[in-house]
Amino acid sequence: MVLGGREVMETRRPITPTLQQNDERAQTGIPSLDKIIEGGLARGDTIIVAGQPGTGKTTLGLQFLYHGAVRCNENGVYASVIESGEKLKRNARRFGWDLDRLEKEGKLQLVSLQSTMKAGVSTALETVLEALHSINARRLVFDSLSALMTAFESTAEARSFLHIMLKFLEAANCTTLMISEVPWGKQQLGTNFEEFLGDGLVVLDASFDNSRVRRRIYIPKMRGTEHRLEGYDYYITREGFALAPTPIPPDKIR
Ligand SMILES: Nc1ncnc2c1ncn2[C@@H]1O[C@H](COP(=O)(O)OP(=O)(O)OP(=O)(O)O)[C@@H](O)[C@H]1O
Ligand SMILES: [Mg+2]
Repeated sequence: MVLGGREVMETRRPITPTLQQNDERAQTGIPSLDKIIEGGLARGDTIIVAGQPGTGKTTLGLQFLYHGAVRCNENGVYASVIESGEKLKRNARRFGWDLDRLEKEGKLQLVSLQSTMKAGVSTALETVLEALHSINARRLVFDSLSALMTAFESTAEARSFLHIMLKFLEAANCTTLMISEVPWGKQQLGTNFEEFLGDGLVVLDASFDNSRVRRRIYIPKMRGTEHRLEGYDYYITREGFALAPTPIPPDKIR
């Protein structure tokens, strides 16, 4: 590079082990989040994303898939028990994410499980696996684990079923976000065992702070990753999901 007529050597940072391993990390599409989890999610891992209503679980999931398809050459499936594909597309459009185009290009599939769930949980999961297979997907968002849980007769049945599913996704090297719905005013996440099942846990928390809702993200668990433990404020803007640059000092966390 020439600066002011003088040749300046570009200083290159030494390649750190973290950067060398970046191939094994799936960027989330949220740079401020990737920064605190060693560059992204470990490929093939299943991460539980837990949060109260409206905390941005779906937005985070769509951003992960959109970024994967557009920037990382990784196709993705969004399987929803809750929202229709049309609603997801409409809401995504507000962030400038054209899911229709990605679907047409075969980079994304939105799978609505609303009616399939009635035919049984196996049928629903078969539908998801078929979708993953048909576009050779490397990313999956399942929305939501909580809704899926209600379809099982017992916790034991759910646990063994999920265990098999997670093994399959790992073998397929498919990085997965499993959304878990946390009711207002509850500390416990879902049915109490999914936190253990996943390789990582991301908690999206909303609380009432003075006269506004304060959104904070915590990462209590991320296997094989050196991650930050402090909470970060986060924002959902017209560009999507982003963390505030500085963590919340521990003495400010209530
Ligand atoms: N285009 C947008 N611009 C700014 N903020 C938005 C936009 N779209 C959504 N939001 C914010 O994100 C919130 C909803 O996000 P999202 O649907 O991802 O939450 P969720 O956790 O999936 O909710 P639920 O539990 O109801 O499924 C909205 O309540 C709103 O505050
Ligand atoms: Mg949602």
